[in-house]
Amino acid sequence: MGPDETPVALEERSREADRLHSPSVARNSEPIRAVYERTMPVEGLVLEIASGTGQHAAALCTAFPALRWQPSDIDPASLRSIAAWADRGGGERVAPPLELDVTAPGWWQAVPAAPEGIVCINMIHIAPRSAAEGLFRGAGALLRPGSRLFLYGPFSRRGAMAPSNARFSESLRSRDPAWGVRDLDDHIQPLAAQFGLALEAVSEMPANNLAVIFEKG
Ligand SMILES: C[S@@+](CC[C@H](N)C(=O)[O-])C[C@H]1O[C@@H](n2cnc3c(N)ncnc32)[C@H](O)[C@@H]1O
Repeated sequence: MGPDETPVALEERSREADRLHSPSVARNSEPIRAVYERTMPVEGLVLEIASGTGQHAAALCTAFPALRWQPSDIDPASLRSIAAWADRGGGERVAPPLELDVTAPGWWQAVPAAPEGIVCINMIHIAPRSAAEGLFRGAGALLRPGSRLFLYGPFSRRGAMAPSNARFSESLRSRDPAWGVRDLDDHIQPLAAQFGLALEAVSEMPANNLAVIFEKG
């Protein structure tokens, strides 16, 4: 979720059996599909970190019929929801979700097959900085040269951010001081570079979010 949206613990997700519904996905799914199509592989295997409800996995696999998807999350209720959503979109092209915590040392060793790309939507600001570091460390280990990491969420740029992002970041920090909107230029880009990933493209998205593409060198 982004600055116009409620943080994960408070988001008014509805439930249909194991299938959780995120209101933020209803708003950002189509803009994400459009940028994904221009920037990421639409066939082969993609690893998703922090899949949440599993709605993005289902939507992207429905949009791109040659895509195979390896979803994951740290949260057991999310893992059940991801598996349930796969029945609605993607079917057998969505692998059983992996329980992955990107702050765990060597987490990427549990990924069974090398992905053509990695997707991570709305995680790095609702997690400690160690989650962003772990994400890039693992992406650096898993991606082949020329393969990409797709990040989506709110960011600041050289310390400046939209007022809605500043309010959102404050509300995140008041829930957990380790959370908060990250700076793309001063923090995320240098972190990515440490693990061999270069900034390739930035797309402005609704509600002051960005889609950010990194490429393995
Ligand atoms: C705001 S939700 C976003 C979910 C989904 N990507 C979406 O856009 O709807 C953040 C997700 O990050 C997951 N998460 C938080 N910390 C994590 C970690 N250390 N490793 C993997 N996933 C994590 C949470 O369980 C949650 O599903």
